[in-house]
Amino acid sequence: MAAIQLSNQPLLEWAGDSLAIGLFEDAVELTGELATLNEKFAGILKEVIAEEEFTAKANSTVFTRVSGGGSVKKIILVGLGKPDVLKVDSLRRAAAAAAKVAKKQKSKTLGFSFPLWNNDPVATAQAIAEGVQLALYQDVRFKSEPDDKGSKVETVELLGFEGQEAAITRANQIVSGVILARELVAAPANAVTPITMAETAQAIAKDYGLQLQILEKEDCEKLGMGAFLGVALASDLPPKFIHLTYKPEGTPTKKLAIIGKGLTFDSGGLNIKGAGSGIETMKIDMGGAAATLGAAKAIAQLKPNAEVHFISAVTENMISGRAMHPGDILTASNGKTIEVNNTDAEGRLTLADALVYTDKLGLDAIVDLATLTGANVIALGEDIAGLYTPDDAIASQLETAAATSGEKIWRMPMEEKYFEGLKSGIADMKNTGPRPGGSITAALFLKQFVKDTPWAHIDIAGPVWADKENGYNGPGATGYGVRMLVDWILETEV
Ligand code: BES
Ligand code: MN
Ligand code: ZN
Repeated sequence: MAAIQLSNQPLLEWAGDSLAIGLFEDAVELTGELATLNEKFAGILKEVIAEEEFTAKANSTVFTRVSGGGSVKKIILVGLGKPDVLKVDSLRRAAAAAAKVAKKQKSKTLGFSFPLWNNDPVATAQAIAEGVQLALYQDVRFKSEPDDKGSKVETVELLGFEGQEAAITRANQIVSGVILARELVAAPANAVTPITMAETAQAIAKDYGLQLQILEKEDCEKLGMGAFLGVALASDLPPKFIHLTYKPEGTPTKKLAIIGKGLTFDSGGLNIKGAGSGIETMKIDMGGAAATLGAAKAIAQLKPNAEVHFISAVTENMISGRAMHPGDILTASNGKTIEVNNTDAEGRLTLADALVYTDKLGLDAIVDLATLTGANVIALGEDIAGLYTPDDAIASQLETAAATSGEKIWRMPMEEKYFEGLKSGIADMKNTGPRPGGSITAALFLKQFVKDTPWAHIDIAGPVWADKENGYNGPGATGYGVRMLVDWILETEV
């Protein structure tokens, strides 16, 4: 990660490779300090604004080489959009846009002159730092040689933010969790397996002093986790049920759980995904578990006063002579029987046993994240996660957290009547309903396995991955959910 420094140095005296200046839309006349800066560089800022018709629309950028001033090589003007609709995420995105320009321009040092959001230097510094770090991250683990061997942005300085060191530390801690999630999701299924997921949990436990319990197949058998183990049957790799626990020093104010769907590969099973189904992308099917471990890594460093359980039933959904057959009946750990009318609806089977297990821990709330359904992508598109919960309080907490983190989410209805689509003639329920409302029946299925704890389910099948560059995300794994979960835990703690 780049080193982020803070100073109260005047804009006019800053020295370095690139200086990024945030401007509001329709207010690109340079006044005050900026007018002086423009004069210092012989009017080139006004010229570039006019020549490129720069109006400071959100995330638009122009840059120019400057000379004569001596100490600054390039100025990057960054649009912030209209001031009345400025959100904290607007600054995160604008900072990301500037960082990308600086990187392309081979700048090693980058200064930021950005306004405050909501008169809040803490939230503003944190958001700028997150945007910069998330935008500059590049995954070169699977390249024998990096594509661009050029210089990196090494040092970033936020002007006017002296004293906000704690906000930068927090941003870096959270980003380390997002990057972990991105790396787990981006790694292919021959690199990230149930075993390596368990090892990752072990490394977090060891590095930050969290408690860890890994339930092996035999342990899961003893607990009667027939739904999870049914999915795991055909894999040559052992399933791992991961339970990481963060406990604060004092008495916890709240006890929370995050559960993540952890399919390190989803072939569909015997209802195998065909050509054109995106089967080759199904390494992403542990995005919920990745966000869970990413959040654990961040929370372990942030040390809130809440107790947090991070749980995932990890396996692959494969085919072999041992595979569950379409039509098999599985018994979950709460005794409910499930007719598996489609082996490709496997995530909800693994989550069923994870939810039963977590529900018994006697916690204040459970949130699960899962790349659960293509239907959620059809409903909300690639960028927006679906939020499903019968609990209005958790819904509004998560909506607030998502607004702060800039991760898009939309509450969907839990239409109980649709559960009729899951009725089975032979077992308590089927695992798959009709195509219409497929993400809703999936959520209603999960609801059967939560008895006592307030619960919410977030379907992240779309936003787990960004095909194209999108703000501080993509192309590639986004680490969706980590920042929202961290914010939810920190805000719910009190
Ligand atoms: N992992 C998939 C869902 C998915 C689809 C994630 C696209 C990311 C991108 C899930 O296990 C699945 O296969 N769901 C089926 C359910 C169907 C069989 C009821 C689906 O969505 O088609
Ligand atoms: Mn599937
Ligand atoms: Zn799946």
